[in-house]
Amino acid sequence: MLDPPAKLFSSADHETHFNPSKYLEKYYSLVRPDEFEKETIPFQLKTFYHLFHEILKQKLSAESRLLEIGAGPSINLCLFAAGVFREIYLSDYLLGNRNELMKWLNYEPDAFDWKPYINYIREKNIPIDDNILEQVHEKVKDVLECDVRTEQVLAQPIGQMDAVACMACLEAACETYSDYQDASKRVINLVKPTGYYIQSGYLNQSYYDAGAYYFRTLSTTRQQVVDTLDINGIDVQGWFDFEVPYCGATRTTTSPGTLFYICYGVKREE
Ligand SMILES: C[S@@+](CC[C@H](N)C(=O)[O-])C[C@H]1O[C@@H](n2cnc3c(N)ncnc32)[C@H](O)[C@@H]1O
Repeated sequence: MLDPPAKLFSSADHETHFNPSKYLEKYYSLVRPDEFEKETIPFQLKTFYHLFHEILKQKLSAESRLLEIGAGPSINLCLFAAGVFREIYLSDYLLGNRNELMKWLNYEPDAFDWKPYINYIREKNIPIDDNILEQVHEKVKDVLECDVRTEQVLAQPIGQMDAVACMACLEAACETYSDYQDASKRVINLVKPTGYYIQSGYLNQSYYDAGAYYFRTLSTTRQQVVDTLDINGIDVQGWFDFEVPYCGATRTTTSPGTLFYICYGVKREE
């Protein structure tokens, strides 16, 4: 069993210790994939393709708008959502992450280069348009400030959306299950009745590697996640999960039995 890292930062420490460049390098540069990246990332990418292009595209109108809460410095989800939604709004709690996204959207020379990641998606035989980066530039309409611990979540409210996604964010932002339930409720409030909610995260995980530092995460079970979605008005329609390989080379998993999941559901009418 791997010892936990000597220093674990709390969710509040994201503000001082989350490094957007190191995070992008760790999860999206794929220069030297470790065991985690070799299997978990292809699972994630294949599931995103299936969910957005083979499921949601058939269910949503071409006019639909997507909001992503806690996107970090990453356009990963947009690479699959751009072909489905008319407009995408990204948000994150940290100014550093929002600045990193703006740098990319503004074509600044030191912005993160997503081309190797796109080549990697192609190598895994996952369909992706040749002009996907231009599509993402066109579809992302704004990068907003958010905090799932506040009532409105978004610093500048934009109303309810056809779909909201919240990927690997709630466990990082919440320290107790009660906080998690409350944050989930606020995020789901941003989905229109009969709209779609998409969520991913890690089950049975108590910290994550953000590239530069390790942050504590709230360890949840599948039952807790499903119960929270149900209490907050979501009928889960699809659940995809994958046991993250446990190996000494990576400190991404706390212990054997960590599952990465992606799920989606429909918001019930009030
Ligand atoms: C593990 S990262 C996930 C980033 C991105 N969704 C991805 O999948 O790569 C966790 C994210 O949660 C964000 N976060 C932390 N506290 C938050 C809060 N109170 N409200 C909203 N987001 C928060 C962090 O800034 C960070 O971008």
